[in-house]
Amino acid sequence: MKEEDLLRQLNWFYSLEIEQVDLYTTQARAATDIYLRQVLTRVADIEQRHVTNLAAEIRRRGATPTRLGAIIAPILGQVAGTMLNWTNTLTVLRANIALEEKAMADYRQLILKVGEKPLFDMLWDHLIDEDLHTAWFSNKARELALLRARKMGNRNKL
Ligand SMILES: [Fe+2]
Ligand SMILES: [Fe+2]
Repeated sequence: MKEEDLLRQLNWFYSLEIEQVDLYTTQARAATDIYLRQVLTRVADIEQRHVTNLAAEIRRRGATPTRLGAIIAPILGQVAGTMLNWTNTLTVLRANIALEEKAMADYRQLILKVGEKPLFDMLWDHLIDEDLHTAWFSNKARELALLRARKMGNRNKL
């Protein structure tokens, strides 16, 4: 892989991770559920660590970490300027699952092209972190869907 292409990819991840830190922090502030708020804050901390790791790797290669244009909005398919409702837990979970899955797919792609350490290990670490985030978000979404279905069932019995 050409160094120039690799740097472009690292800057893309760097930008994505920064946007995820901002987004998860915003969602944590909007969350009414205390457990969800704590999880989002914790996940934002982990994404911040990813930002730091990527910046260090880019600098190690003699380049300057550079933010690319908007990354998250196109992934979520948002029209520019349209904000999703972050007080709705299911909206938060669905959006975050989409982002984490995109991050995982791209980390996997890059791992296939990069063999050298320490970059290889860093990409694996990030991939696994995103996998754990996806697992929590998906599990919570399933739990909510079940609760909702149960409530609907009770209502039908009345
Ligand atoms: Fe991340
Ligand atoms: Fe993540």
